[in-house]
Amino acid sequence: MISPETIQQITSRIDIIDVVGEFVKLKRRGANYLGLCPFHNEKTPSFTVSPAKEIYKCFGCGKSGNTISFLMEVEKYSYVDSLKWLANRYGIEVEETFSSPEVRQQQLTADSLFAINNFAQKFFSEQLTETDHGHVGLSYLKDVRGYRDETIKKFQLGYNPEARDTFAKAAVAHQFNPELLVKSGLVVNRNEELVDNYRGRIIFPIHNNTGKIIGFGARIIAKNDRTPKYINTPENEIYIKSKILYGSYFARQTIDKNDECLLVEGYTDVISLHQNGIENVVASGGTSLTTDQLRIIKKYTNNLTIIYDGDAAGIKAALRGLDMALEESLNVKLVLIPDKEDPDSYVNKVGPTAFQKFIAENKKDFILFQLEVMLKEAGNDVAKKNDVVNQIAETLSKINKAEDFTKQQDYIRQCSSILKIDESGLTTLVNKYKRDKISADEKKLPFEEANHHIPQQQDTDVAYDLFHQDEAQERSVLRVLLEYGLKQWDEQHTNAEYIWHELENFTFDNPELEKLYNLYYHLYQQGEKPTSKTLLYIEDQTIRDLVISITMFPHELSHRWDDVMENMHILDRDTSKQDVFASVNYFKLRKIKKMFDQNQKDLEAATDLKEQLKLIEIHKQLKQVEIELTKQIGSVIIK
Ligand code: CTP
Ligand code: MN
Repeated sequence: MISPETIQQITSRIDIIDVVGEFVKLKRRGANYLGLCPFHNEKTPSFTVSPAKEIYKCFGCGKSGNTISFLMEVEKYSYVDSLKWLANRYGIEVEETFSSPEVRQQQLTADSLFAINNFAQKFFSEQLTETDHGHVGLSYLKDVRGYRDETIKKFQLGYNPEARDTFAKAAVAHQFNPELLVKSGLVVNRNEELVDNYRGRIIFPIHNNTGKIIGFGARIIAKNDRTPKYINTPENEIYIKSKILYGSYFARQTIDKNDECLLVEGYTDVISLHQNGIENVVASGGTSLTTDQLRIIKKYTNNLTIIYDGDAAGIKAALRGLDMALEESLNVKLVLIPDKEDPDSYVNKVGPTAFQKFIAENKKDFILFQLEVMLKEAGNDVAKKNDVVNQIAETLSKINKAEDFTKQQDYIRQCSSILKIDESGLTTLVNKYKRDKISADEKKLPFEEANHHIPQQQDTDVAYDLFHQDEAQERSVLRVLLEYGLKQWDEQHTNAEYIWHELENFTFDNPELEKLYNLYYHLYQQGEKPTSKTLLYIEDQTIRDLVISITMFPHELSHRWDDVMENMHILDRDTSKQDVFASVNYFKLRKIKKMFDQNQKDLEAATDLKEQLKLIEIHKQLKQVEIELTKQIGSVIIK
């Protein structure tokens, strides 16, 4: 956790125009700035940044937020990483509050490993390009692999010389801790002597999503059957194999833009495709995909295209990732590279244009591909065909997210047609597998219920609208509270105090809005002076989202008028009191109406005379309050 003092320091320094301007070309337009939205493709700018409100909103795709959420969205950083990025930018030292000494120790080790890797990368690059013994490596990369200088530089490739301990010596001379050097995998301890682990190998640094080096892959140059082709960093505090996608740092922006991620097997595939201008590509490292890796992809796109060798091993490896990808609700396509080539050799053979054409034309739907492979294997064997049906039903049952229901139905239709079986029969079978899985997961929700969510879409929309009628007044109160809470209502009281007093006897129906309301007053009582801006830096994402939607919404329709109004100085007119007054009273009116309705119902149900008389009295009183409120609103709000 980052300490509150540090967060305070960071947020007080944030300049949203400066940060967003780093990623988007912004032009001043009245009080706001305008640019091309980084989150969707557009030709005319509708991405608006308000320096005064410290928020952005795209009127094309609807994305909105503050500086932190911008970094989280554009860089896919976590909340904490965004703060760290900003701290780094403003030269603020990050003070962390650690929950335990173990966590702190782990963090220190991680920092040291990053430092070692950073040093090692520079060392190996220098060996490759500036020394005589690096020559063998450089000529391999250039002449054999065909890498250009800028490619070698971009991927920070290097070379570890043949001699026993070139790197180990340099690292020890540089005061790195021997134990940590061993942990980094760069050296090994041989009879109390540190020797290089990647002797005579080409070095491929592996970067995390923010570009820091977490480990290395080291490839032999000459074919040698006695030692593995690649040696990779062992698992340590920063190299966690199941979470690594080689190349993600270089690919993420293009994946985002193209809305597609190409997945290949190896380091050299990624590098060659990049050199040929195909940059939305990452590698799994030859093992089957993990859920963590799929989740990294899902941050950027839902469309995954797996490009593997056409050999049996390649197909098997690809199919192993399928079920998991479906569970993560990714759209998976598959392309098999022909003639014993891999993506690296194939792109170098046919060139980028033909390569991309090949990919586009040979993309197969993963599920239908699996079905074809299995059917071919089964031939005319009835028992085997039965197995195929079962297997495909099980696969389809993995598409279990409610939002993918239509996709699942499409597949059931296509698969039953390929299998020449009855569609409803396949549906039943798929459902059976779903039920099995759910009971295996010990989930309480029965399948039927989960499935009924989608067909009932329209009902939920109606329910949503009903719900929101009530919510509008509650949101409006929160909006004026956030906007004008700290301003004076009268000589003694702020608007916040006025609202608190007026609404003392009322409750919120929406629990999230109530949470925000209570949070506001909690902070207010602590003397924190909360505003929509300060609340935007609260770690709780639901609060931040709520604050944005509340403060943004009323301006949504009028934003095109901002400039005009500003020029006419209309925006300067202080309407805060009217706004506060109206919001509070509409809120009350709404609540009174609800009580009124409830009372009416109680009255109809009541059989006891005394009870009835009491309810009639309440009815009268409520009616009186309603008339009073309506009159007040009417006299103050001149529409
Ligand atoms: N791999 C590995 N360890 C090995 C073999 C392979 O970690 N002993 C991983 C590497 O990430 C490698 C990928 O699996 O990049 C694919 O393996 P392979 O196709 O054998 O290597 P290529 O990257 O194609 O290397 P090259 O083209 O140089 O043969
Ligand atoms: Mn290869």
